[in-house]
Amino acid sequence: MRNLKRGIIFFTLAILIPGFAFAADTWIIYYTRSGNNKTIAEHIKTKMPAAHMVEIKSNDDRSGIMGFVSSMLDQWLDRDAAITVEDIKPAADDTIIMCAPIWLQQLSSPPRTFIKQGKLKGMKMYMFITFGGKLNEEKQKLMETWVRDQGINLQGVYGSAVGGKTPEDIKKLIDEYLQKAGLLAAGVQ
Ligand SMILES: Cc1cc2nc3c(=O)[nH]c(=O)nc-3n(C[C@H](O)[C@H](O)[C@H](O)COP(=O)(O)O)c2cc1C
Repeated sequence: MRNLKRGIIFFTLAILIPGFAFAADTWIIYYTRSGNNKTIAEHIKTKMPAAHMVEIKSNDDRSGIMGFVSSMLDQWLDRDAAITVEDIKPAADDTIIMCAPIWLQQLSSPPRTFIKQGKLKGMKMYMFITFGGKLNEEKQKLMETWVRDQGINLQGVYGSAVGGKTPEDIKKLIDEYLQKAGLLAAGVQ
């Protein structure tokens, strides 16, 4: 009887320990100019405490009217941004949640530059994007194609029009998206 009990405990541990040791991680990677995507990334982190949070920082001052103009120029000229990001090394089966703003109907230049650097190649990625008013459907498709062309295994894009919404409204919307994406139900952390 004792041996049977020991056998069951050993068998259970042999199954559980490798599962924990090699569990895939989740990386919440965000860029923000005016705070919306930081709010979203932090909210997602409250739902997935084990996830790593990484900020893409623009080396250029993006504040004020001059920052707005240089951001618009990045988009018009399809220019890369000078960015600083922690040197992360996600594993191949990890999950990326990217939170990023839309500028001029395209992915804003700092996250676009980060994706181009190729660290996320082959990885599963969910995108949570924000825009002030509207993202043209065709432009969204172009963005999705571009992301896939960078070798990313894009799982879904969840867009939030933030104009006129309170942070609480946005968080509620994000909760719905997380459910829809199966990120909470699957317990992805
Ligand atoms: C340079 C620039 C261009 C923008 N272009 C658009 C746009 O084409 N359509 C739109 O609906 N919102 C646009 N926005 C609004 C942002 O997408 C929106 O405010 C977003 O939530 C900002 O995110 P953040 O607060 O994390 O920086 C633009 C904002 C900036 C700064």
